[in-house]
Amino acid sequence: MKYPKEYLEEIKSRLKVSSVVSKFVAIKKRGKEFVGLSPFKNEKTPSFTINDEKGFYHCFSTGEHGNIFDFLMKTQNLKFGEAVRTLANQAGLQPYRFTKQDEQREKEWNVYIEIYSTYIERNKENITSSTPTNKKVLEYLKKRNLNKESIEEFNLGYVPFDTKTFLELSSRFEEKSLKDSGLFYLDERRNEYVDRFRGRLIFPIYSLTGKPIAIGGRIIEDNKKIAKYINSSETNFFKKGNNLYNLNKARRISNKYDEVYLVEGYMDVIKLYDNQIFNCVANLGTALTNKQIVLLGQFFSEIIICFDGDDSGYKAALRAAENSFKFLQPEKQISFLFLPNGEDPDSFVESKGKEHFLKYSTENKIQIHKFIFNHYLSNSKKTPTDLAMIEKKMFTLANSIIDTVVKKYVLGFFLDQLSNFLPSKTNLTQNNFKFKKARSLEITKNIYRETQKFSSIEIKELSLLYIILNNLDFFFHRLDLLEDLLFFSKENKILFQLVERSLKDGNYNDMNIDKNFLDNINKFATVKHIVKKNDDNHSKLSEIFEDIKKDLKTYSLELRIQELESKFAQDFNQNTFDEIRRLKKEQNIN
Ligand code: UTP
Ligand code: MN
Repeated sequence: MKYPKEYLEEIKSRLKVSSVVSKFVAIKKRGKEFVGLSPFKNEKTPSFTINDEKGFYHCFSTGEHGNIFDFLMKTQNLKFGEAVRTLANQAGLQPYRFTKQDEQREKEWNVYIEIYSTYIERNKENITSSTPTNKKVLEYLKKRNLNKESIEEFNLGYVPFDTKTFLELSSRFEEKSLKDSGLFYLDERRNEYVDRFRGRLIFPIYSLTGKPIAIGGRIIEDNKKIAKYINSSETNFFKKGNNLYNLNKARRISNKYDEVYLVEGYMDVIKLYDNQIFNCVANLGTALTNKQIVLLGQFFSEIIICFDGDDSGYKAALRAAENSFKFLQPEKQISFLFLPNGEDPDSFVESKGKEHFLKYSTENKIQIHKFIFNHYLSNSKKTPTDLAMIEKKMFTLANSIIDTVVKKYVLGFFLDQLSNFLPSKTNLTQNNFKFKKARSLEITKNIYRETQKFSSIEIKELSLLYIILNNLDFFFHRLDLLEDLLFFSKENKILFQLVERSLKDGNYNDMNIDKNFLDNINKFATVKHIVKKNDDNHSKLSEIFEDIKKDLKTYSLELRIQELESKFAQDFNQNTFDEIRRLKKEQNIN
């Protein structure tokens, strides 16, 4: 039994070789390719390369070479059928079952593609050559200032009002196939088929594998009574929400670009392309779907959603943000780029050029969670009720995120932002909403870093011990300074308790302290120079001491908050949240 070529192509186009291989071999990006140690041979220097653009791997030391199917067969010992099933599953495709229906569908698909290819070729001629009926469309194209190369590249075409394409196709294809293509509709009064795209400039839409599956068409003369753009109707092989305009081309260069621009219109894509910005796709006149987000995520690590700089563009962006929020992943970013008022990517890049567009993008794109938060905040009066509503909304959104790690961080970000509005802080921020950086993220990173080595917290503890041990007489009179002291390291805590007890008992002159311990204190207590400088200045000493003590307290609060945030990310319990809020408030006061 033979798998249809198209089915195999579909799997290949959905899966990068690098993502299939990286499940088994550690690989690193080098230029346009990935390299790693050969899975076919023991080696110390990487000779195994992967080229996503071309869709193959190559091992320079053994000469092994192939596509994703070969890779699984050779390295995992699978039969071809098993490799296909495994990868189809990974690509999110239904298994191919070799049933009668599958075969029938395969036949229909081939006819479908044939119809579209012919239709596109046929209508392309209407703009590449001069005919009596195409004067207007040529003028229109000139007015839009489109490059010849792009017109060619995107296979644009024009369907004249007196088109004969249906008749021409009727001689080659069955009526049912033509009807099912979505290109024509039946005018029942006259009992004849009519081309949907008469009088329109047409934009062929291709599948991931580069096969024509639908058409978008634009009127070329202003007419408020009919839709500016239409698509061919949905068919067995074309669902708007599953496809993106130009993804077939953009995916091929996805190893060169981390990010992809998602824009609203065909014209935006073509104009960006005209201006050498190739990594862009458009959704097809509907709200962005989950499928589209997931699909883009397979090829690019950052999706920059760049809708028109008008009200409806903003609304569409917000809807897209809320819909795609749950798909955030550690290595995947979704950002938004708002263009100046009244501009769309087409007009903006046309008037400002590539460099300006890219610079504007780098400087103005905003990450999805910030966009959402800012949106709700700037649309509220910041009254307690408003804030409570925002809080609820933010937590519902954060809760929708599937990836628990990202969920935690996003939650941390929201909590952090909201903590700016707690009573102890509001006075400072009420009039100028300056946002702090997402602190939880930083904190988590720091804690992580610190546990790796001799932690800075431990160093602080050693500093406190250093001060105490070098000023025992002083502390004997100021036992109050030792209250509320928090130690994180067990050893330090034990030593401290011993010292404290001895001070309280008044027998601190013959404490038995391990020499190694004392050495550590002398070596790592970073305060020793300041302390020495202020040898007899007791008020200065207690000031330094209190400062460090406060640091430790802040640290402990942060730890506790972090712990609760993870807990909250799991249970969404109101008490947990209230406790986080209380601690954040305490943190703000400190
Ligand atoms: P826009 O109205 O923003 O058009 O529609 P545009 O991209 O600026 O196009 P030009 O510059 O006027 O030619 C953006 C997208 O929304 C869909 C189409 O997919 C279009 O590309 N749309 C728009 C429709 O489906 N129907 C319409 O009537 C209008
Ligand atoms: Mn436009």
